[in-house]
Amino acid sequence: MRTQKVPATLLLLLFAIEALDANRRKQKDKLIPTIINICDINDRDSKVHCYCEFSQEINEAVKTECWVFNGGIEKTDPLWTSFTSQSNIETLAFNVRADGGLDFVPSKVFRYVRKLKNFSIKFSSIPKIESFTFSNLSAVQEMTLTKNQIVHLSKHSFYNLPNLTVLTLDENRIKELLTDTFFELPALQKLYLTSNNITVIQDGAFRSLVNLLELELDRNNISELRKECFDGLANLKRLDLRRNKIAVLNSFTFIELWNLHSLLLDYNEINMLAQRTFDGLSQLRKLSLSHNKLVTLAGGLFEGVRGLAALDLRHNKLKRFTYDNVRPVYDNLKNQNSYIYLDGNEFTCDCHLAWMHKLRHEAKSIKVRTSLENFVCKFSIDPSLNSHFSYYERSVINSNTLYEGDEKSQIKDYSDNSDDIFHDEIDDAYADEPKLVRKENEKTLLQIPVEALPCPQDVKTVTDRTYTYPSQNEAKDYRNLIQSSTSAANNISPSIFLFTVSFLLRY
Ligand SMILES: *[C@@H]1O[C@H](CO)[C@@H](O)[C@H](O)[C@H]1NC(C)=O
Ligand SMILES: *[C@@H]1O[C@H](CO)[C@@H](O)[C@H](O)[C@H]1NC(C)=O
Ligand SMILES: *[C@@H]1O[C@H](CO)[C@@H](O)[C@H](O)[C@H]1NC(C)=O
Ligand SMILES: *[C@@H]1O[C@H](CO)[C@@H](O)[C@H](O)[C@H]1NC(C)=O
Ligand SMILES: *[C@@H]1O[C@H](CO)[C@@H](O)[C@H](O)[C@H]1NC(C)=O
Repeated sequence: MRTQKVPATLLLLLFAIEALDANRRKQKDKLIPTIINICDINDRDSKVHCYCEFSQEINEAVKTECWVFNGGIEKTDPLWTSFTSQSNIETLAFNVRADGGLDFVPSKVFRYVRKLKNFSIKFSSIPKIESFTFSNLSAVQEMTLTKNQIVHLSKHSFYNLPNLTVLTLDENRIKELLTDTFFELPALQKLYLTSNNITVIQDGAFRSLVNLLELELDRNNISELRKECFDGLANLKRLDLRRNKIAVLNSFTFIELWNLHSLLLDYNEINMLAQRTFDGLSQLRKLSLSHNKLVTLAGGLFEGVRGLAALDLRHNKLKRFTYDNVRPVYDNLKNQNSYIYLDGNEFTCDCHLAWMHKLRHEAKSIKVRTSLENFVCKFSIDPSLNSHFSYYERSVINSNTLYEGDEKSQIKDYSDNSDDIFHDEIDDAYADEPKLVRKENEKTLLQIPVEALPCPQDVKTVTDRTYTYPSQNEAKDYRNLIQSSTSAANNISPSIFLFTVSFLLRY
């Protein structure tokens, strides 16, 4: 805006010239009636106003943002044709400012802006994307259709967009994903469908997205997943299914996703994971299952995900996490940058958790160590063991000498994080949550010596049928653990020794 003061006579003169100019323009308009420069719409009643960055001259705008102010604009409105005045637009965004101001995709515009790379519509009330609405836009790379009240996508809604790499459909009300809605999109790498109302994913919904790397389906209404719905996603690296309604996952659900690195299933209602749910995910590094309803984990659950190095199981109802569970990924958890988060469960202090002592000593990752050091379990089964524990707690644990020697190496390891291959892959948001007020029967696991962990005989009755108690290997591992722990402890009392012996004799 110019704020310079201009003498009144000069103003009058300028006004006269302006009027003449307008007159001349009008005459020109009569010759070519539809040429309105969309970057320079003077009609105050126009339903659409556009702001063009850098230049407003004919065919010079590259980046244009249009506001739809008044409702009722039609598909046939001459305004859409006026985009012919700016054929070099590369970025075009429609922001709808009036309720119900736009209830269709103004696809006529696409004919005139053949260089369009980046297209977006927000706050419209488009209920449905018809077939071929977005097709043959060969230059488009990024499309954003956030907050548009879209309920239905049709087969071939997005068709033959050879350069489209990112498609965002967040915050709509899409109910269902049909087969071949996304078709001939060979460059698509990211598909975002966060915060919709998706309940059904048809088989083959993504089958032509062979180069897709990221798929976000979080905050939807998905309760069932069939393995066929992931057909074709052979290159997918990250799948976000947080905040859905999934209760059960069957074996081989993710078998098509053999390049997946990161699988997020937090905030669902998962109470049952079939033993082979994660089979086929040979590249998986990160699995998060926090805020679900898991009580037990099948023994071989992680056999198919041997690369797993980041596991989040916080806020479930887990009572047990056995060495059998952890064994396939145990060595990964020793590495720098790994983590295993287990807070907010209902673990029972028993011999199944003995591996945590060992891992605490072997882990280089400060996150793994911290997590294990803060790990709390419930210690309540047998009153005689409890009294035994109290004795032990007084005599040994409170001396707090258990891990002092490690502090230095801990600091050194932390600074040496040069080879963190998947640093951005792993969620660093985890901060040590403030320690919960400890309930009376809760103990810090690492403060209980391995020998004092009870191995209750009734374990079988509280676990599911797939649980076998304990396997030969598992028993052997416990024995090794106990032996190393015994030789490390320098002041073992005779009663503890007896307890250890009786523990060993059970096998
Ligand atoms: C595309 O446009 C959207 C909205 O106008 C903007 O947020 C985004 O950064 C743009 N992307 C590129 C690559 O220019
Ligand atoms: C898109 O292009 C294909 C060929 O490349 C053509 O057959 C088809 O008619 C086009 N579709 C539209 C809606 O323009
Ligand atoms: C599609 O993208 C490629 C690589 O970025 C580019 O060379 C090509 O010109 C693009 N096609 C169109 C029609 O813009
Ligand atoms: C989601 O879909 C269900 C039925 O399929 C419907 O009852 C509900 O209103 C929808 N929610 C939204 C936000 O559209
Ligand atoms: C999810 O679906 C149920 C039943 O179809 C529906 O009642 C509920 O509103 C949906 N949730 C959302 C967030 O729309």
